[in-house]
Amino acid sequence: LNHRHVAPSILSADLANLADDVRRVVDAGATVIHFDVMDGQFVPPITVGPVVLGALRDALPESIYLDVHLMIETPERQIEDFASAGADGITFHAEATPHAHRVLHQIREADCRAGLAVCPATPPGIFEEVADLLDLALVMTVNPGWGGQSLIPSTLEKVKTVRSMLGPDVAIQVDGGVDAETAPLCADAGATWFVAGSAVFGADDPAASYQAIAAAAGV
Ligand code: DX5
Ligand code: ZN
Repeated sequence: LNHRHVAPSILSADLANLADDVRRVVDAGATVIHFDVMDGQFVPPITVGPVVLGALRDALPESIYLDVHLMIETPERQIEDFASAGADGITFHAEATPHAHRVLHQIREADCRAGLAVCPATPPGIFEEVADLLDLALVMTVNPGWGGQSLIPSTLEKVKTVRSMLGPDVAIQVDGGVDAETAPLCADAGATWFVAGSAVFGADDPAASYQAIAAAAGV
């Protein structure tokens, strides 16, 4: 968890050939796969849930880390289902529940790494309140809900703030608008986990694109 990782996001993969698409980036060196879950409530789109996560889990080597990003209301209802479907880490949104402290506990109880996410408009102070329960802090660099948006520059200041708040040992993840151009800016601000959806799976050669972003991010 303490190393740098570029995590390709399945949101921009071909969902009818999900395992094949993911294997292309795994063969190129990716060890973390970002799995975006949307419920049509917290964000308008609906994507996939534990059933698809379990199918992907079965199709991939054990060593691949499945990084689940829950963009859903009341995430406390779903933690056990995602954990038993094969999540390695589960990240939920601070805006989606008043019970961040309890849900972080719940995720660790389920034997997963615990992550908390904040949208661009949410101040980062909550990370400080739960610092000892946090394996990963996700600073959204776009508004959640859609792939292919541009990184919001002011979020990089927030990454800096969170890095000085949490010290060197916590993974800080950026998600949204990350590509070979923006990854170095995120790294300079203190990010260590870089999610990239359209920049990987939207490219003609996802494997080469993964490798270019990983090189740019200093992985
Ligand atoms: C957006 C999702 C992201 C998405 C990023 O709400 O959380 O993980 O896949 O897409 P890109 O990398 O295209 O901005
Ligand atoms: Zn995501």
